[in-house]
Amino acid sequence: MTVLAAAGHYSVMLDEAIEGLAIKADGVYIDATYGRGGHSQAILSRLGPDGRLLAFDRDSEAVADARQRLADDQRFEIVHSAFGNLSDVVQQQGLLGKVDGLLFDLGVSSPQIDSAERGFSFRADGPLDMRMDQSQGQSAAQWLQGAEESEIVHVLREYGEERYARRIARSIVARNEQSPLTTTSQLRDLIIEASPRQERHKDPATRSFQALRIQVNDELGEVKRVLQQALSVLAPAGRLVVISFHSLEDRIVKRFMRKHSRQVDTMPRDIPFSAPAEPNALKLIGKACSASKSELSENSRSRSAILRVAERCPC
Ligand SMILES: C[S@@+](CC[C@H](N)C(=O)[O-])C[C@H]1O[C@@H](n2cnc3c(N)ncnc32)[C@H](O)[C@@H]1O
Repeated sequence: MTVLAAAGHYSVMLDEAIEGLAIKADGVYIDATYGRGGHSQAILSRLGPDGRLLAFDRDSEAVADARQRLADDQRFEIVHSAFGNLSDVVQQQGLLGKVDGLLFDLGVSSPQIDSAERGFSFRADGPLDMRMDQSQGQSAAQWLQGAEESEIVHVLREYGEERYARRIARSIVARNEQSPLTTTSQLRDLIIEASPRQERHKDPATRSFQALRIQVNDELGEVKRVLQQALSVLAPAGRLVVISFHSLEDRIVKRFMRKHSRQVDTMPRDIPFSAPAEPNALKLIGKACSASKSELSENSRSRSAILRVAERCPC
């Protein structure tokens, strides 16, 4: 099932995420990516009066939405922060090792994409910003002005798999030397001009815009940082549920979950006795799954979603 939250975001793989969290009525949960609160509201609907939900979002508009929508719910609190600060915030709240479920629905929300002023979309003209948290860091325009051509090539290739990365990067640098790119339309026009051939049914700017967004928000760095922290945040039997939308993001999640759920014999092979294996930090719950056919027919954004679940092992 997908849910169109009042503010216009379909919550991807909602039922699967809620099932993965295995919610206890009096448990403590974290929604690390509030967005427009579809997953948060589903969690709250399963919590009793003693349950608690702490949410994060680095976007001040998402935080404002939460403070308005859930103002009267004493079980709920939202923090305006990147989830890369998870363990600090959780420690301040006295909840380290006490969290029964931790949910990540990665990437951007529909309101972010749909709002021209945020600069995420090539479909509408707006400032070339792309920051989820506009109160800090560099906008896409600023990053492009300061970056070397080789860095731009790397980002477009790695995060966007853009085959014309070199041509596009060269055009960006040349253009910025004359008069800096400041809008999404300027960048889209430049990409179209620099791309000799175009993919059918795909705007030529799709890959570069995705790549720049990932770079500007350090999206992969955030995921790597937070997964390590998740181990100290979760209570024994606490659930980790991650929905990712990009193959590099999913690879980080998959490797992390596999690494911490495999029995590893730490002794060198030439020592003639078997050492006790390191205790696993995680147990995999089910296999990675994608959105159902009916969800796909309702919401095309769920096409690239992959959901993985793991459980914190008792230490
Ligand atoms: C896909 S949306 C989440 C939608 C939400 N589950 C719902 O049902 O409405 C992702 C949200 O996570 C936020 N976000 C992405 N990366 C973040 C990070 N590193 N720290 C905090 N928030 C982040 C974005 O600002 C966005 O609002």
